[in-house]
Amino acid sequence: MSLLDRVAGLFAGVRGSAVPEAIPAPALLFVDPDQNLLDGHRRMLRSLRPDWTARYVTDGPAALTELAASPADVLVTEIDLPCRDGTDLLASVQKLFPAVIRIVLSSETDAGADAILRATQSAHQFLAKPCPAEVLVSRIEHAVSLRLLLRRPELTRIVGGLPHLPSLPPVYLELVRALSNDRASMNEIGDILARDVAMTSRVLHLVNSAFFGLPRKVTSPREAAVLLGVNTLKSLVLYVRLFFSAPDSKLPGFGLDELWTHCSLTGRLSREIARAEGTDSRAQEQAYLAGILHDIGKLLVLEAPRYLGRLESYLWAGESLADIEYREFGTSHAEIGAYLLGLWGFPDAVVEAVALHHRPQQIFQDAFSVVTAVTVANAFLEAGPGKPPAIDPGYLSGIGASHRLAAWKELAAPILAKAEARTLTPATPPTEGPRT
Ligand SMILES: [Fe+2]
Ligand SMILES: [Fe+2]
Repeated sequence: MSLLDRVAGLFAGVRGSAVPEAIPAPALLFVDPDQNLLDGHRRMLRSLRPDWTARYVTDGPAALTELAASPADVLVTEIDLPCRDGTDLLASVQKLFPAVIRIVLSSETDAGADAILRATQSAHQFLAKPCPAEVLVSRIEHAVSLRLLLRRPELTRIVGGLPHLPSLPPVYLELVRALSNDRASMNEIGDILARDVAMTSRVLHLVNSAFFGLPRKVTSPREAAVLLGVNTLKSLVLYVRLFFSAPDSKLPGFGLDELWTHCSLTGRLSREIARAEGTDSRAQEQAYLAGILHDIGKLLVLEAPRYLGRLESYLWAGESLADIEYREFGTSHAEIGAYLLGLWGFPDAVVEAVALHHRPQQIFQDAFSVVTAVTVANAFLEAGPGKPPAIDPGYLSGIGASHRLAAWKELAAPILAKAEARTLTPATPPTEGPRT
């Protein structure tokens, strides 16, 4: 049974139907100047996924012509292209055909680190050449499954009913842009943040809180970037943006202070778990970012009184939020938050981890990933010290990680103990003052 069939079965199960809904096989467009490589893809697909349709072109203009003639679900492109650079192609496809999943399949030595970095602005996923056929197929299936998950009607109905979806703060976009340039200095990074005075003061408030335990008071964005690293700084910018546009709430699990503590600790533990599993630095950063953002869907539904109204009595009765949401709505704050991150163009690994942090089984996985790190970290933080985390044993054994739980528990212990003993003062966003 293919992954798409399994996903279809899961969706059908959620809706209560006994018969899996048919999901059309994806239409692919491959772009690579090497005709032999394209022929290899053609043979590979014929043998592994004969029901998929695919077109093959050797340059960017031909790719755009193909997409204009007939839509594709997935674009798999080399960066190093003749006529039109692969990064230009990705940016054009992002603008003209935003629904197309954009995957880069390139070798860094051919494309150059600079081009790869620039492509991060408009690609959902990266794969390094040479890429085993099974890996390529599996990544395409994951990306398609994620889109299907985030297009379920129950989710789009809820998101469509939200009063507004926050936009990505311009400062964040400028930071991302500056970081794509190797020569960006810490001074420039500091200058970008300093342009938004309200944002700067809130970020510095967080940075100077006991949560980060910095040795001295930080007074400038430049110092913050040097001491914390630019990626942490970027996460803080997002967090400040989201927290200042959300109303506070007394509902269990929805208070802003409580949420910030929970999310920042989940980010920290996710990164430690990813590191302990020997993942590369990119995956560790993604685990941190996904951990810190995993519950942003809660901030979004805080502004949806009808949604919260359906949950309130169950929440006060102590029932788990995600359980109530899946039962009442067939979806949850996890998918709602992931939907927003998808709109904002976050990498699939982050979107996927946020979407699946309560139900990692919704998309097939056979190995440890950022999803695992965030799911496990969140479960430990939700359980609290001394209590077993609610993680599906079937999921852990499916990815061959049951034996790792004890090691993760050790990583979680000091974080949980600190939180419990309240020696850690949570970095709380100020609850007064103008909202952005
Ligand atoms: Fe959650
Ligand atoms: Fe959570």
